[in-house]
Amino acid sequence: MARRWTNDLSIADATPYAAYINRRQIMAGAAGLIGATALGLGRANAQELVPNSWEEITSYNNYYEFGTGKEDPANNAGSLTTSPWTIEVDGLVDNPGIYDLAELIDGLEVEERIYRFRCVEAWSMVIPWNGIELADILTRVGVQEGANHVAFETVMRPDEMPGLRYPVLDWPYREGLRLDEAMHPLTIMATGIYGRPIPNQNGAPIRLVVPWKYGFKSIKSISRITLTRDEPFASWNRANPREYGFYSNVNPEVDHPRWSQATERRVGAGLFAGRQPTLMFNGYEAEVASLYEGMDLAAYY
Ligand code: MTE
Repeated sequence: MARRWTNDLSIADATPYAAYINRRQIMAGAAGLIGATALGLGRANAQELVPNSWEEITSYNNYYEFGTGKEDPANNAGSLTTSPWTIEVDGLVDNPGIYDLAELIDGLEVEERIYRFRCVEAWSMVIPWNGIELADILTRVGVQEGANHVAFETVMRPDEMPGLRYPVLDWPYREGLRLDEAMHPLTIMATGIYGRPIPNQNGAPIRLVVPWKYGFKSIKSISRITLTRDEPFASWNRANPREYGFYSNVNPEVDHPRWSQATERRVGAGLFAGRQPTLMFNGYEAEVASLYEGMDLAAYY
């Protein structure tokens, strides 16, 4: 697998699953404060370089179609049927249609991308994704003249998604990007984590990952992609435009109205690790700042 855009993070830094489990067992045996401190400091010193464990990535989730608790998706998302899976592609495209997922991505390169992942709630992880550049998929379906945005929809299956009973959002979950953001090589459609198929709670069988934006832009279990002229409907932005912008670029200088975005808590970092500073564009400033040249990022948050 070719690998690009990993920056300072490499798969060599990933904690292998077996080693992680092993460490947990050692920790369980190491009684008291000394053990906990060692773990906390160990993770703190290496926090930039160490991807989160499989267990952390797959048991602490946001997927409100399966409940609003962090463990609800892991407990409830098993009910989602992910095969067969179709994606409707429509709007300003040369080849609209309802595609079988396998057919849509057949032959496209799957890469490993180890990305920082920063939730708007001010927690973060480092996740080793496997995915396809969204640009490759869009090129395959043929973007037409006049398309400026890409809209995404999550599948809506009340029988399989217990959270849809609650009007937390105007379902289905929807998100959107500007076309240049969607075509950026950092933007991927993830189909795996740690080289395994992506679990349901993380958005199986395919979800968006836009590493320089807050996590809610990275919509899960995508069943529709629409090329549009105008800025599309985006669920969180529509639910509360003052708190959640359409752009939602990670920015330590623009606070959420109810909390600071200057720092973040790295999930699994340990009790004594402390918070770490949030990076402009989540650490991808060199790659993406040019997309927003001349824009007031406090106004277009
Ligand atoms: N996609 C759908 N369909 N429903 C959701 O509730 N939550 C978003 C995003 N994508 C969400 C979603 C939020 S708030 C975050 S932080 C990430 O998914 C979490 O991704 P993870 O659970 O894989 O870490």
